[in-house]
Amino acid sequence: MTQDAPRPDKASPHKASTDKASPDKASTDKASTDTASTDTARPAVGITALGAYAPPKVVTNADFEARLDTSDEWIVSRTGIRERRYSEPGDFASDMGVRAVQNLLERFPDGLEGVDTVVCATGSPDAMFPATASLIAAQVGLRGAAAFDLSAACSGFVYACSVAHALVVAGTARKVLVVSAEVLTKIVDQGDRNIAILFGDGGGAVVVEAVPQGYGFESFVLGSDGAGAGSLYIRCVADRLPGNIPMGQYTYMNGREVFKFAVRVLGDSGLAAMQKAGLGSKDVDWLIPHQANIRIIESACERFGIPMDKTVINLDRYGNTSAATVPLALAEACQDGRIKDGQQLLMVAFGGGLSWAASTMKWYDRAAHAAKSKVLAEVGA
Ligand code: UT7
Repeated sequence: MTQDAPRPDKASPHKASTDKASPDKASTDKASTDTASTDTARPAVGITALGAYAPPKVVTNADFEARLDTSDEWIVSRTGIRERRYSEPGDFASDMGVRAVQNLLERFPDGLEGVDTVVCATGSPDAMFPATASLIAAQVGLRGAAAFDLSAACSGFVYACSVAHALVVAGTARKVLVVSAEVLTKIVDQGDRNIAILFGDGGGAVVVEAVPQGYGFESFVLGSDGAGAGSLYIRCVADRLPGNIPMGQYTYMNGREVFKFAVRVLGDSGLAAMQKAGLGSKDVDWLIPHQANIRIIESACERFGIPMDKTVINLDRYGNTSAATVPLALAEACQDGRIKDGQQLLMVAFGGGLSWAASTMKWYDRAAHAAKSKVLAEVGA
């Protein structure tokens, strides 16, 4: 599924790299590139409000050292993670999502006005049904809104943004609340050093709606390859995956396989998204990658030619919060003032499916625009 930026080769995320996507050359062609934001026939659609939540309980590498055969040195050097947040026993994905939305409302008190659709990206939903999106909607004053969950594992946030974008462009929705909410620590074997040290809990929330022309999402590149399903999964109804792969009680991950896949698809999909938006790596102000492993992020930066100091990284403090990593990083970098109005963002993610997703976006800072309008009104301009 692709919007605005059809993937060059559906079956092969390699294709973009073999095409080399020539980001810097693409940059020179920018003016002639047809994108969602510059195509006046379509509304420009972007993010107008955002928030995030991470539970207060901190679990450090020293906590794992105390109970597993591992070390702070191994975890930091192999993953970049120093600590992560754990939800309380009685808290679930909907609680992470609701608190992320509450954080959004603290910063954008009118942010939810007119929201008619709620999409929740989660791989650890409260229930198979009702949708976690419905549970969140009811608790944040959005009873009556359309609500559904989206399952694309760690790629879920970018997938959900693409769905929200499409719904608004099509006129099906006017304003969509996209929530990522995860409690992976509850479905990961806490006795398995291979996986327990990686994950944390949290949530992120953004509002997607029409924005002024020249802002908003420019390209999406989405993909999946179910042949790799056996590399990363958590069971639901079935006790085995196609191919007679038995599924146990906890999340399973073949770390090495996922690592190799991630290095390949992050680079390929990110380059393809830049190419489709007519951007080169020098045009990108901020890379916001899925926060799974610092070595995967470093390799993506190298492929893109984007320096690490233009990359938003918080996995050292939150670990891998699955679908919530990208909105958590995005919200943090907006809140601390790193991401500014008009800046060019690139989001890239990968995860179970196996799946991948990338998107470029020109950041619209609604608060900055509102402040500017107020000043102009005051001086009578
Ligand atoms: O959001 C998407 C989900 N997941 C990911 O993105 C994860 C992708 N994969 C990775 O990040 C890395 O593969 C891991 C961090 C999971 C593992 O790092 P690695 O460098 O690929 O290590 P490895 O799996 O090749 O294991 C190397 C050694 C093994 O020991 P032997 O067989 O060489 O004796 C492991 O048993 O490290 C051992 N090991 C550990 N040692 C200390 C695995 N986990 C640990 C640990 N502490 N926590």
